Amino acid sequence: MSEHAATPATTPTANADQRAVKAVIPAAGLATRFLPATKAVPKELLPLVDRPVLQYIVEEATAAGISDVLLITGRGKTSMVDHFDRQPYLEGRLADKGDQERLAAIRRPSELAEIYTCRQHEPLGLGHAVGCAQSHVGNEPFAVLLGDEFVDENDPLLPAMIDLQARAGGIVLAFMEVPPAETKRYGIASVEPAAESVQNGAEIVRVTGLVEKPSAEEAPSNLAVLGRYVLPPSIFEAIKRTKPGSGGEIQLTDAMAMLLAEGTPVHGIVYRGTRYDTGAPLGYLQAVVQIACQREGLGDEFRAWLKEFVADAPGVPST
Ligand code: G1P
Repeated sequence: MSEHAATPATTPTANADQRAVKAVIPAAGLATRFLPATKAVPKELLPLVDRPVLQYIVEEATAAGISDVLLITGRGKTSMVDHFDRQPYLEGRLADKGDQERLAAIRRPSELAEIYTCRQHEPLGLGHAVGCAQSHVGNEPFAVLLGDEFVDENDPLLPAMIDLQARAGGIVLAFMEVPPAETKRYGIASVEPAAESVQNGAEIVRVTGLVEKPSAEEAPSNLAVLGRYVLPPSIFEAIKRTKPGSGGEIQLTDAMAMLLAEGTPVHGIVYRGTRYDTGAPLGYLQAVVQIACQREGLGDEFRAWLKEFVADAPGVPST
């Protein structure tokens, strides 16, 4: 492993055979931005057309070569785990009816990957949630996918991140550009050009600083950390040394900033594809509309309706 060596992104390193094959999905949050819908239903189970958000995220991980997924859950979130289990009674009923299509659809979640769960006993922050994965992950690099961020499957991001981490070691992040008013919602990075600045068309930067949720005035750039990470196992020790930060929580950004300061290389891919924050109503609705427009057997009819609705929104007072 070369986590602590300042290796240029182009140089193959000893950890090239250590491609991340495990993913951690922190999904223990209280989902206050989507209340009351999320009072009894985990936000990760809200449907995007016909599948819960979380299934898309697990599908994204498996499409990137991940075969082992650890869900970090919390109180009231057990139904999330049930979604990835078999349902023999329902399967039997569908089989009796000869409904092969639905039968395949309900089996699919349990066939995607090996799904494991671990409970975060107290909501102490994202860094703390990731720290709960230590014994499961062991001494390997691993991916983290936040359970309420949807990345368009037509414009995947994770495979390039995993490739880069296998070559460069250290931490690999993904960034999106945000307006100044939004820096206070994200981790924000200061960056410089990387030795290898383009990988398959994607822009790569080298990270020189990280700060969690700075105000517009304090933000070192407009590059916000998106909810996909590929991390080295040294993050676990860093998390243990991390004191509560923004919001009184143990922040993953602070633990990564600590490793960066100690010499771990941190690279970022600037993502220009589509990403939605499905943990709040606006992003959730945008994701639903995009998927509905693209879905076979639904898209044509839905788009036609949507055009008409937008042109002449019935029941919506015109301004
Ligand atoms: C978390 C991270 C933040 C990151 C964001 C991406 O924040 O702490 O650095 O930019 O996810 O969505 P949260 O959304 O949990 O407040």
